[in-house]
Amino acid sequence: MKNVILIAPPAAGKGTLSKYLTDTFGYVQLSTGDMLRERAEEDTKLKEIMKTGKLIDDKTVFEALEAKLNKLGDTPYILDGFPRTVTQAVMYDELLQNMGKDLGVVIYLDVDKEELKKRVVTRLVCPKCRASYSTRNESLLPKKEGLCDNCRLELIQREDDTEEVFDKRYNEYLEKTSPLIDYYESKGLLVRISSSDANEIFKEASSLVRNA
Ligand code: AP5
Ligand code: MG
Repeated sequence: MKNVILIAPPAAGKGTLSKYLTDTFGYVQLSTGDMLRERAEEDTKLKEIMKTGKLIDDKTVFEALEAKLNKLGDTPYILDGFPRTVTQAVMYDELLQNMGKDLGVVIYLDVDKEELKKRVVTRLVCPKCRASYSTRNESLLPKKEGLCDNCRLELIQREDDTEEVFDKRYNEYLEKTSPLIDYYESKGLLVRISSSDANEIFKEASSLVRNA
């Protein structure tokens, strides 16, 4: 199985698809957002930046990811939220070259802004395993209202999940992350999924990773 990079705007379903692929195919999910949120519990400066919806500097993010990758060995993984800038993509290309590894497949989840805004304010997350649930989508509800299916802990809202911060996150995405669509398309590595139905997305992505 090839490694997967997920490129998508905020709240497009990177975490949800990662969890599905992890449960179904045994991938490891590497979410730089989750790594940074964990770190921010002890780093008030980092926490403050994340609350505003701005991206964290490339070096900090890359070092956090590299440390995880070095421990993984040959287990296939999904990059959820990385790379997020062309600089990060170039750093990652160099790392792969040094490790003698292939990049794999890049999946771009194409979701429009109005839909994303609705998702952001109806999302609940587990404070421990970070799984995402939706209070407006039947198939993405937790089995027991307000509780994580895996950890049984009370679900919470993320601090950056307000309409106001969402606008900032979305602008960061447009300015700094969306150029990656051309970057990977020009290398012939990008596959676009435009469906909005979660099960349809799971099906399309499964067939991609199976054939990758
Ligand atoms: P990060 O945690 O990556 O946040 P994000 O990109 O804004 O993405 P989200 O986690 O909000 O959304 P998602 O795409 O995972 O969607 P989900 O599956 O939860 O990053 C947070 C911050 O960390 C950044 O702002 C930045 O500061 C920093 N950071 C992280 N990586 C960085 C990097 N590489 N460089 C620099 N800074 C970095 O789904 C969302 C909701 O929709 C859920 O409720 C879900 O149930 C629902 N849903 C999912 N799929 C569907 C569907 N098909 N239909 C309806 N609802 C759906
Ligand atoms: Mg996420």
